Amino acid sequence: MERLPKIVTALGAFAVVLMVVLAAGCSPKQTEVSSPGTDFRDFSLATSRPYHTPEDAVAHRDTWHNIRVNDVGIDSYLGRNATVPVGTVVIKEDFANADGAPGDFQKYLVMAKMAPGYDPDNGDWYYSVRMPDDQPVEMNGMKMEGRIPMCVGCHTRVAATDYLFGPPDSVRVER
Ligand code: HEC
Repeated sequence: MERLPKIVTALGAFAVVLMVVLAAGCSPKQTEVSSPGTDFRDFSLATSRPYHTPEDAVAHRDTWHNIRVNDVGIDSYLGRNATVPVGTVVIKEDFANADGAPGDFQKYLVMAKMAPGYDPDNGDWYYSVRMPDDQPVEMNGMKMEGRIPMCVGCHTRVAATDYLFGPPDSVRVER
């Protein structure tokens, strides 16, 4: 599918994808969303300061992160709700570890809550890993976007909170 301009909001992108899907008459399972683009820099911060994930953590190791959520989902995300609304986009920014402080912005991870039917067995989440220029990271010739088994495999541990771990308590923004 053609990429949408970056100025299109994440929610707009979902609406467009849905319309294209309906127009094409194919099942949502066969589609991939366009990335939310760089609009995420306007998303609300769910973390009060960048936090470091230790080297021996289960994932996202030895990097610094901010978590940002769009308007659709920020209250549910911070409220530890059992589910977040369709259209929620959660971004995890990754910064290099520069001698114990956040260094260069390296990439960002995306979780976008899709319409029911996208991936019904796994909470209908779209996952992606993208470079600062918005291009998906490629791993073993595969573009990191869509229903990525590795991401799903671990986020399934927190299926009870809609596959979201939430920010560490020490940096969680209170609302
Ligand atoms: C082995 C476990 C594991 C794997 C694999 C994993 N994650 Fe995570 N993820 C976590 C944990 C734990 C957190 C909680 C925040 C933290 O520790 O930084 C998290 C947080 C997130 C968040 C913030 C939303 C939340 O859950 O609160 C996003 C976005 C995210 N991960 C995306 C991804 C993507 C995309 C992939 C696949 C490329 C992935 N994750 C793979 C464990 C994992």
